[in-house]
Amino acid sequence: MGSVGAKEVPVLLNADGLRIDGRRLDELRPIQIRAGPLPQADGSAFVEWGQNKVMAAVYGPREVHPRHLQQSTKAVIQCRYNMAAFSVDERKRPGLDRRSQEISKVIAEAFESVVFAEEFPRTSIDVYIEVLQANAGTRCAGLVAASVALADAGIPMVDLLPAVAVGKIDNAIALDLKKEEDNFGQADLPMALVPQSGRLVLLQMEGHMTEPELAQALELGVGGCRVIHEKMKAALRERYSTAPLAAGAA
Ligand code: CDP
Repeated sequence: MGSVGAKEVPVLLNADGLRIDGRRLDELRPIQIRAGPLPQADGSAFVEWGQNKVMAAVYGPREVHPRHLQQSTKAVIQCRYNMAAFSVDERKRPGLDRRSQEISKVIAEAFESVVFAEEFPRTSIDVYIEVLQANAGTRCAGLVAASVALADAGIPMVDLLPAVAVGKIDNAIALDLKKEEDNFGQADLPMALVPQSGRLVLLQMEGHMTEPELAQALELGVGGCRVIHEKMKAALRERYSTAPLAAGAA
């Protein structure tokens, strides 16, 4: 442990360049994605990513509530990101706080740039993200889950939206921060990528990094997003693939 002021800062990178959970700087936490776990929703997905557990459900296109949000030329995308009271070590006050509102807004805006909303005027596409267990990177896990859930609901989109946070720990750029790295690191940079065009549709930063570090972080994050994109597609393929023909069948 080192010490900055009164705060004890753990060593985040050991002499071998490995992180507190043994990962290399460019390594993602294990990710499992399941498409369609909630049959009552139009689309759903469950994501386990490191110690994050996130459920997403999509309803729509359907009638808009509240009605004044209705748009005559396109669907409105309404997103609600919520952290369960039991999702973090110290019990979180239930309900939508400022952080949840901000995350809901940036996720909805990210989806606005990929969903063909003009195909469904005067309707709402409602995206619910429930964080059941949180360990940093939940907005990215939420985006990944919601994106697979939107595809599961059959909502037409330019592409899926993989997302990941890159950060700076002990002066090194690292992929996919876990909680201690997020808490005690020097920067956190969540991003979401449209793989087809290479466009970033969500990019936020807390902390500080130099311009070359930022370039390195973006490159690392985009590479991570492309790996996650493959896992998202595999989850959808698994849900919709039909059983293979028995050997010898025509
Ligand atoms: O989750 P994400 O990294 O997208 O957002 P954050 O605001 O940077 O939060 C980082 C982490 O802090 C969360 O994933 C939780 O593990 C934790 N957190 C918490 O313990 N209590 C809160 N009220 C908010 C966040």
